[in-house]
Amino acid sequence: MRKYELIAPCHFGLESVLKREITDLGYDVSSVEDGKVSFIGDEEAIARANIGLRTAERILIKIGSFTAVTYDELFEATKALDWENYIPKDGRFNVVKAASIKSKLFSPSDIQSIMKKAMVERLKSVYNIEWFEETGFDYPVRVTLMKDTVTIGLDTTGVSLHKRGYRKLVSKAPIAENLAAALIMLTPWKKDRILVDPFCGSGTIPIEAALMAANIAPGINREFSAMDWENIVAGKVWKDAFDEARDEVNMPSDCDIQGYDIDNAMIETARANARLAGVDKLIHFQTRDVKDLSHAGRYGFIITNPPYGERLEDKENVSKIYAALAERYKALKDWSMFMITSYEGAEEAMRLKADKNRKIYNGMLKTYYYSFMGKKPEKR
Ligand SMILES: C[S@@+](CC[C@H](N)C(=O)[O-])C[C@H]1O[C@@H](n2cnc3c(N)ncnc32)[C@H](O)[C@@H]1O
Repeated sequence: MRKYELIAPCHFGLESVLKREITDLGYDVSSVEDGKVSFIGDEEAIARANIGLRTAERILIKIGSFTAVTYDELFEATKALDWENYIPKDGRFNVVKAASIKSKLFSPSDIQSIMKKAMVERLKSVYNIEWFEETGFDYPVRVTLMKDTVTIGLDTTGVSLHKRGYRKLVSKAPIAENLAAALIMLTPWKKDRILVDPFCGSGTIPIEAALMAANIAPGINREFSAMDWENIVAGKVWKDAFDEARDEVNMPSDCDIQGYDIDNAMIETARANARLAGVDKLIHFQTRDVKDLSHAGRYGFIITNPPYGERLEDKENVSKIYAALAERYKALKDWSMFMITSYEGAEEAMRLKADKNRKIYNGMLKTYYYSFMGKKPEKR
């Protein structure tokens, strides 16, 4: 099978989690850079990574990388790439996204149109035709320019991987599914331990935890752009990868995952989303104010995304919410707490100092992931 270098972009700050996931899936990581992890794999890897990776944003086949500081250089180097090995005669091809950081070439629309022209020129000479009807399947191309280094990828995913397909309804400030999964993976939580999200909104954190507990692959119920590409990933390869994911599902007989929110409509939404994800039986959702948070169990985990209080009128209320959370947390016996927020006053409002504090970019928003470590259960 043909080997490719595959690029998996992710949230800035979560590269180490994604790297571990890729290694666990059985692939060799070739590089880790800010916001992306690259690895080596064949067509089977393309299917398995799309279906199985919880923290990646998408999977790109790396078509090439070069330096360009003028549009002529960009054109010539793009034209020199072996596009015919990826795009068939009737394929529809466009540079759907161009991102430029600290580079001389910075206009996305100019980069996109110059590259399209270069691809057309290349394919014209190979296929010996003057005009491309583009009546076939989509082959979306993505390019990033970082300090004048151009990296070109063919997008095997399509709709971003954080869209698992279960979240038809969202809260006002939902957290992306792949970020929620990464937050859980950054903790020592395992399915035999208690997990509570007291600000669960549309249920993303409890649902992602339940998917992990049942070993349900995040992409098991969705489609990917490379499913149309018989020339790159054969249909049988996709079928085998989906069969493998279905075989690995293992619903736990008991687990304690709970989601609370003060807003009853949110709890209804979370329940509907959990049903769509096929994990409603694994999660207990309930309308509850954080000031009433309690649990009789020991060694549990709070993993949560409280309100950030970005609007001025929310500021005072928000510090009270963090204080209530801290008070209830202290009453829980031997629990650990993990909390993502952009609210700078979180530790002060809680009168608690985190053991660890990790910077994570949620899109353009700088957030902190605070860890408060509780006791480990004694070994039996
Ligand atoms: C940032 S959102 C959580 C979003 C969630 N992670 C998701 O993916 O949908 C914060 C949530 O806290 C809830 N909330 C606000 N004040 C609360 C309180 N006092 N007790 C419990 N929940 C509260 C809001 O209703 C909102 O759904």
